[in-house]
Amino acid sequence: MLLENISLLYFKNYDEASISFSPHINCFIGDNGSGKTNLLDAIHYLSMTKSAFNSSDAQNIKQGEDYFMVRGLFKIEEEKHNVLCSLKQGQKKTVTHNKVVYEKMSDHIGRFPVVLVSPYDTDLIREGSEERRKYFDSLISQLHHTYLEQLIQYNYLLKQRNSLLKQFAERHYFDRDYLHILNEQLVPFGEQLAQARQSFLENFVSIFQKHYRHISDSNEHVSLTYKSQLPGANFAQQLLQNERKDLALQRTTVGPHKDDFVFLMDDLPVKNFGSQGQQKSFVIALKLAHFEVIATQQQHKPLLLLDDIFDRLDEKRITKLMQMVADHTFGQIFLTDTHLDRTDKILQNLSDQIRRFEVKQGEVREIGKG
Ligand SMILES: Nc1ncnc2c1ncn2[C@@H]1O[C@H](COP(=O)(O)OP(=O)(O)OP(=O)(O)O)[C@@H](O)[C@H]1O
Ligand SMILES: [Mg+2]
Repeated sequence: MLLENISLLYFKNYDEASISFSPHINCFIGDNGSGKTNLLDAIHYLSMTKSAFNSSDAQNIKQGEDYFMVRGLFKIEEEKHNVLCSLKQGQKKTVTHNKVVYEKMSDHIGRFPVVLVSPYDTDLIREGSEERRKYFDSLISQLHHTYLEQLIQYNYLLKQRNSLLKQFAERHYFDRDYLHILNEQLVPFGEQLAQARQSFLENFVSIFQKHYRHISDSNEHVSLTYKSQLPGANFAQQLLQNERKDLALQRTTVGPHKDDFVFLMDDLPVKNFGSQGQQKSFVIALKLAHFEVIATQQQHKPLLLLDDIFDRLDEKRITKLMQMVADHTFGQIFLTDTHLDRTDKILQNLSDQIRRFEVKQGEVREIGKG
């Protein structure tokens, strides 16, 4: 899969930009705050229909403007795909594929996959379980469309159950039958989610471990486990057992929305026992495994977005990663750096399909061959 061209209009700090890409390596070079990460985010938007960083869509509209547009021209095996995302202040965002509007964003997600390696990835280790659930939910959703549908249904029913619990407390009444009807609807979705996460990890862990060994050249043993009361336990029974507690706290206290993914190094939590470098390698291996499972399943390679990667890895690791880039383990790459000299040195002789772009205050200009 290739992204041939992208056009932006009032996206973040850009007025208007249009860039045609190399099928192999694309570099965005510029000072801090110039708009490099914003460009990667625009590519992320085309794939995932949302920013990788802003949870509010409206924040992506350039300050002072009232809409933004991002258009991408993809090519998959000679077939062209025109994807357009746009948002007008106060309106619903629209995503179109070859001029046809999607009814549901979920129909688009996963069709044009990207994998972003970002300095924020270590948040996955440091932050609470919600970050990790969101990450794996998004990844599994890209692999299995039904998972996304189940997740949407589960979250919808969970929200209903929680507002019912709140209502009971506020209005001092309790309608057990109504609660149990919601339980019955929630249970199959909850069990399916837990089962899907479990089986996803069974396949994923060894791929992740392979990538960790490869980039880190080290002896530590890394692993990922799924911490859940499901599968195995009976979700319906658990909801009943926790009913009093749920009523008291006015929210649902058991279920896959409380589960966690545990990151381990030599059987200890990476969060507490991994060095900074080990933590970085951990999340990079995670993202490379992420890339591999999507590439295998979709039979075309996701776009790889590498944000500030050279700043965060030691030379040995950069060399390893770039060897993989050069031998076409990955497909099309988009990377950012603040130093042209460093980028040129690292990419020297790696590929004859490199395009370099200078990014300056929301403007992009191609740098001629040096
Ligand atoms: N909605 C918006 N309107 C206007 N400017 C915005 C908007 N959203 C973000 N920006 C600005 O975009 C600028 C560039 O951000 P970006 O993260 O892309 O920089 P960068 O080139 O990646 O820098 P660094 O090297 O520090 O990572 C920031 O100064 C930010 O304030
Ligand atoms: Mg940046």
